[in-house]
Amino acid sequence: MTAHVSHSSPQTRRSQEFPPSALVLGIESSCDEMAAAVLRGDREILSSVVHGQAEVHAPYGGVVPELASRDHARVVSEVVATALEQAGLGAEELDGVAMTAGPGLVGSLLVGLSFGKAFAYSQGLPFVGVHHLVGHLVAAEVGGESGKNLEPPYVGLVVSGGHTALYRVSAEDRPSVLGETRDDAAGEAFDKVAKLLGLEYPGGPAISKLAQQGDPKAIDFPRPMSRRPGLDFSYSGLKTAVSVELARRGGLDSLRPGDRADFAASFEAAVVESLVARSVRAMRLEDSRRIAIVGGVAANRRLREEMTAAGEREGFEAVFPPMDLCTDNAVMIAAAGSRLLARGVRDELSLEAFSRVPLGDAPWRDPVRPDETSR
Ligand code: KG4
Ligand code: ZN
Repeated sequence: MTAHVSHSSPQTRRSQEFPPSALVLGIESSCDEMAAAVLRGDREILSSVVHGQAEVHAPYGGVVPELASRDHARVVSEVVATALEQAGLGAEELDGVAMTAGPGLVGSLLVGLSFGKAFAYSQGLPFVGVHHLVGHLVAAEVGGESGKNLEPPYVGLVVSGGHTALYRVSAEDRPSVLGETRDDAAGEAFDKVAKLLGLEYPGGPAISKLAQQGDPKAIDFPRPMSRRPGLDFSYSGLKTAVSVELARRGGLDSLRPGDRADFAASFEAAVVESLVARSVRAMRLEDSRRIAIVGGVAANRRLREEMTAAGEREGFEAVFPPMDLCTDNAVMIAAAGSRLLARGVRDELSLEAFSRVPLGDAPWRDPVRPDETSR
């Protein structure tokens, strides 16, 4: 197949012609959201569309990859068309396209990536694959008031359904990992504990909503890794502690009214405390003044409050993207892509989806492709 197709688009525009205010279409489909957005430059949001799949996966209590990619295939052209329509633009007015290339569910990624490649090819547009976590971090730099002054160096805390890690983000080098989870991601723990508590998927928002009616001190769950040195995280023990405590009380059906909210609040408090404690330690070790907290769990109100308060005590600023740019969206992909394209980074039609790639090996501020660096 590939032998018959030229690997670069016929009339790909040259990097010099890519102005910083160029119009970029972003496409994100790494998990269970199909999203498209149009940006002018890396900040001005002209449109943002997110099609979620909560109802598809809710009966299973978690994402079913096969169902996710089928739903993506069903809606991708409509989501992109809506983003263009809301931006008031025709496809021919765009300057470039950016798609999430990984990490994520490969079947899901392939839908947005292949659509984006075909779209760009048909319009003769340059395109670039974006690392999903780079997108999350860029969301903190481009979104909201506090992000306006955010520039490397800073510490990045990525807390999502698939990742929990602290990074050193610098202007010169690739982001490097300071610490990461040894087992479950924080968002994954929210989702699993929500399932134990009989709450709907996705679990993070459901737990934080219920937690508002509960007492965060009611149950003394362990604070993960609190006695361990270093900057790693661990959440599977906490999930087990919730399950053991539930069983000790005779299971979900034996709980008294209000108990479930106490479980939710106490679990949330334990996760938040561990994230804040690890971050404070990282800020001291790195002697850093700014931390960007990104990814779906960064939408958690308690985390936002406690991290901000810790920053005030410790003398650092906690920068969060606006709520809608914390969970998966295409604004962050268009923004990261816009920066790469403006630097002359281009991908070819041979660009593949990757399920895992370290953030440090992702195209970041320097235009090197992950496959070039891993060789
Ligand atoms: O970044 P994201 O949308 O997708 C991934 O890249 O994984 O993160 C999704 C995760 C889910 O685990 C979800 O339960 C969690 O973020 N989440 C939250 C909240 N909103 C979403 N966790 C805690 N509190 C929230 N308000
Ligand atoms: Zn994400």
